[in-house]
Amino acid sequence: MSVWRKKPLEAYEADMKKSELKRVLTRWGLTSLGIGAVIGGGIFVLTGIAAHDWAGPALALAFVLAGIACTFAALCYAEFASILPVEGSAYAYSYGTVGEIFAWFIGWNLILEYMMGATTVAVSWSGYFEKLLHLFHADLPIWLMNDPITAREKAEKLRAAGEAVPDFAFAINLPALLIVWVVTYILVKGIKEAASTNNLIVIVKVATVIFVIVVGAFYIDTANWTPFIPAPVTDETGQIHYGFNGIVTAASIVFFAYIGFDAVSTQAGEAINPKKDVPFAIIASLIICTLLYILVSLVLTGMVKYTNLDLKAPVAQAFADAGLTWAVYLITIAAIAGLTSVMLVMMLGQTRIFLGMAKDGLLPKFFSAVHPTFKTPWKSTILVGGIVSVVAALTPIDKVSELCSSGTLLAFAMICGAVWLLRVREPNLERPYRTPALPVVATLGILANLYLMWNLRVDTKIAFVVWGSLGLIVYFLYGRRHSNLNKD
Ligand code: ALA
Repeated sequence: MSVWRKKPLEAYEADMKKSELKRVLTRWGLTSLGIGAVIGGGIFVLTGIAAHDWAGPALALAFVLAGIACTFAALCYAEFASILPVEGSAYAYSYGTVGEIFAWFIGWNLILEYMMGATTVAVSWSGYFEKLLHLFHADLPIWLMNDPITAREKAEKLRAAGEAVPDFAFAINLPALLIVWVVTYILVKGIKEAASTNNLIVIVKVATVIFVIVVGAFYIDTANWTPFIPAPVTDETGQIHYGFNGIVTAASIVFFAYIGFDAVSTQAGEAINPKKDVPFAIIASLIICTLLYILVSLVLTGMVKYTNLDLKAPVAQAFADAGLTWAVYLITIAAIAGLTSVMLVMMLGQTRIFLGMAKDGLLPKFFSAVHPTFKTPWKSTILVGGIVSVVAALTPIDKVSELCSSGTLLAFAMICGAVWLLRVREPNLERPYRTPALPVVATLGILANLYLMWNLRVDTKIAFVVWGSLGLIVYFLYGRRHSNLNKD
């Protein structure tokens, strides 16, 4: 029983024929899912820290750099999706090409991307919701808006600042818990319902981002862009801010803003014409979001001197500083809507990957049970919803959100390698989409994604190794023994 055994490519065709999922997603429906998963907290929150602390006005270059790393991965994903349009995404692609343990490892990393991504986004959602309530002068108690650890920290800070905060025995992030259940309900109800909800949200958030760009452009002071790349500064811990190094660190931070375009590939089982439309949607959603991100960064750093950027809500604050107070409402609502669709697509992606893994026997059958009426993997959706909601409500998960980026970066690098390997091993396979200049794109994709991963914090890298080791233990205890390939 080699851990490198591969799933025969013919088995994928057979799986697709047996699939019980509904094929309803069109080319633009898929692209909308991509944009739905991508534009979220990243652009509305991380731009502040990335520009203020690391890149200055060269934030736009950080977005270009992270966008390039994603483009290499997207081009490779697109070729794979055109050959194997199945729901397991990167996991499934590598099972047919590199081998079971590699596929398992990618699947395990994608849990970091999708499930941990959805959990951290649920906490950000709650933060924005709190802001919205505050705009309407409605403030809920700390213990209802935060997990127990964060609630205690916040209460202590407020008390130290002289505010009277009543004691509390228990705390829960209730908005995070509730929004996850709303999303879970939509996901169980059906893929059509999920796609329609997503389409509506995408219209709101893209319109808001365009609003930020167009209206913000009138408030740009070009003096704020000079120097475009501030001179490097080394802090007491030896880290270099600004200059080229600062831009790279900023790129690894804002990489989070791009996460999600690959989720399109998990919806291949529900696409009407997956071989053509999934590659199109992956690349189209990435191009659209990259352009929007670069323009928002230029506008933001043009409106406010990078040293004055707000760290928590930089975009909304820039408009408030410009005197457009009403825009703060619009941006806050768009961020709330945007984060909802990110959760929707990430949880959708997670359940489809579990579905692919369960069909192959690497996870229990529970994960592949499809609802007779709704045609969705309802049991696994409810389980994912349950875990995401409880972790978001009770743990300070947002502090480990970089883990989500690390899992994604490694999965991207692995996909670039796997698509190349398949070209060499199976050169004659039908490829409706071929990655141009593959050896160059794959090599640069591997290097760029690993390089960004290397630039993450040491704590993140340690946590990542722990997570990976846990994955291997689970594989040897469960996956390897129950794999369908044992039966062959
Ligand atoms: N790209 C997603 C966001 O920025 C995860 O929220």
